[in-house]
Amino acid sequence: HNVAILYGGKSGEHDVSLLSASSVERHLDKKKYNIHLIGITLEGLWYYQHNYTNSSQSLEIVRDESKLISLIPGKGIMYHGQILDIDFIFPILHGTFGEDGTLQGLLDIIDIPYAGSGMEGSFMAMDKEYAKIVWEKEGLPVVPFISIKKHTFIDNPNEIEKQINNKFNYPIFVKPVKTGSSVGVSRVDSSDKLLPALKNAFNYDHKVLIEPAINAREIECSVIGNNYPKTFSLGEIAPSHEFYDYEAKYIDPNGAKLIIPAILTENQKEEIKEIARKAYIAINCKGFSRVDFFLDIDTNSVMLNEINTIPGFTNVSMFSMLCAEDGLNYSDLLDKIFEYGQG
Ligand code: ADP
Ligand code: DAL
Ligand code: MG
Repeated sequence: HNVAILYGGKSGEHDVSLLSASSVERHLDKKKYNIHLIGITLEGLWYYQHNYTNSSQSLEIVRDESKLISLIPGKGIMYHGQILDIDFIFPILHGTFGEDGTLQGLLDIIDIPYAGSGMEGSFMAMDKEYAKIVWEKEGLPVVPFISIKKHTFIDNPNEIEKQINNKFNYPIFVKPVKTGSSVGVSRVDSSDKLLPALKNAFNYDHKVLIEPAINAREIECSVIGNNYPKTFSLGEIAPSHEFYDYEAKYIDPNGAKLIIPAILTENQKEEIKEIARKAYIAINCKGFSRVDFFLDIDTNSVMLNEINTIPGFTNVSMFSMLCAEDGLNYSDLLDKIFEYGQG
């Protein structure tokens, strides 16, 4: 098969994609796949990457103006005046313009099949408010929330501050609806810290969520498949930071412990996996996703936090390690995702 890996991207999670895509490139079976690499810069330019020997943990993007890519609707990807022979795309991009449905819509228009969720599922999963509205309607447990639009905040920040103070007890979480990797997310312990947290979150998005801070264990579930998705053993994230922030995820090597499998009762495992499956189906996810939960320490109740349609995807990421825990190794996982993307 002739496949292309798209990576990088116009996103706050650009660097995370370089790591994920490097692992995908190294683990795709070279006997089965002929790989083209297309790097997308932070500004959103697409460059064909030539003769890449990838032995590092992180892919690079070489910018050469003669290697710019163009797209032909209905035809495919054009490079140097020729349509490239590509029959499948692995979009290994996180966040905006990669995981949020925009790229998926574009690939539909270009008419090349791709790994993972389509435009609709990607968009609903990316917008944390819409995902929760859908899940609530399905009767699935979510963390309570309100959402605030940027223009209402700009028009009257003090009124918004008052509304939040009336509705919530501290600590609370303030987060942009459509970022990932904890970009723009703050834990706010008292009302005097609220305005800066809102301003920061609105730097990233036009809508933010306010939620009570849940005193919780963080449990994650990998899901793969299309109409009848499969779940795997669960994992737990135990951050050493105040919460699972960007530094704990990628910078500080001791930022978090990944506990695989998570220590839970059989009932808890079954409950979480069942909710994960339903949450995936409700959002119309395809191919693969990672569903993230809070297990409230005080009440023992399980709540959906979010779903990631292109989760961190290195061979030491939670998503792939949970699959490996149940015997599906990284290269075989990529084969499955390829197969699910065909139909
Ligand atoms: P992202 O998409 O950036 O990962 P999350 O909603 O998962 O956004 O938030 C990132 C992290 O912030 C979570 O993994 C968790 O550590 C913490 N967090 C977010 N919301 C809450 C909440 N309501 N209660 C407790 N912790 C939270
Ligand atoms: N958004 C990051 C990549 C994750 O969820 O793993
Ligand atoms: Mg998260």
